[in-house]
Amino acid sequence: MKRLFVWAHRGASAVAPENTLAAFAAAEAAGAHGLELDVQLSSDGVPVVIHDRTLNRTSNGHGSVSRRTLAQLKQLDAGSWFGSGFAGETIPTLEEVFAWRASRLRINVEIKNAAAGKAVLDLARRFSKVSVVVSSFDYNLLRELRSRAPELPLGFLWERGDWTVALESALACRAESFNPRHTDLSAAMVCACHQQGLAIHPWTVDGASALQNCLQLGVDGLFCNDPAQVLTWLAGR
Ligand code: G3P
Ligand code: MG
Repeated sequence: MKRLFVWAHRGASAVAPENTLAAFAAAEAAGAHGLELDVQLSSDGVPVVIHDRTLNRTSNGHGSVSRRTLAQLKQLDAGSWFGSGFAGETIPTLEEVFAWRASRLRINVEIKNAAAGKAVLDLARRFSKVSVVVSSFDYNLLRELRSRAPELPLGFLWERGDWTVALESALACRAESFNPRHTDLSAAMVCACHQQGLAIHPWTVDGASALQNCLQLGVDGLFCNDPAQVLTWLAGR
């Protein structure tokens, strides 16, 4: 039976506030194989780990992430919205995550804002012991990263349009994986990826029936919010 690569989506975001060190520690404790996180850029050009363009949902701040300096972002509480036990969690910088447990877990850096591309690449090169894959829905950004960094592992995120056209784009930028929404998976898609030498890692897989479908179709890895649960299900197969 092939080993499925289990990514903790925004960390173990079912049990801790997403995209915080608490969520990443919970993912590691659960035995996840890698962390997925989302990156935006602060107004002073620092890659910070947060999913939304605005601060409203996952912190006690409000307004655009890109209009706050790192110092301003660091004053915010990114944990209390999830639970009082997480009060005081801050929005991590990407550098803090790379420095934390460097080289232990693979890190999937999803770039949400193309302006962060160069800074992310510089950090990935500086932390060369960390196993990094950079992913994005922005094909132009992936293509630009590929031209700047022939060695950089890339993940091609896809959610709309013709998947066969997207697959050509993933191949053109020499992505290592094609990452669709799990409800869009099909046997033909998995087969085409494998024929072209691409791994396929769907997101975000949280139910037992969704996991079963992924296993039946033969995916190589998946993103989940609760890696402990998924790994328990996998162990019970
Ligand atoms: O990387 C897969 C997944 O994270 C893409 O969607 O919105 O959760 O960042 P989203
Ligand atoms: Mg993401």
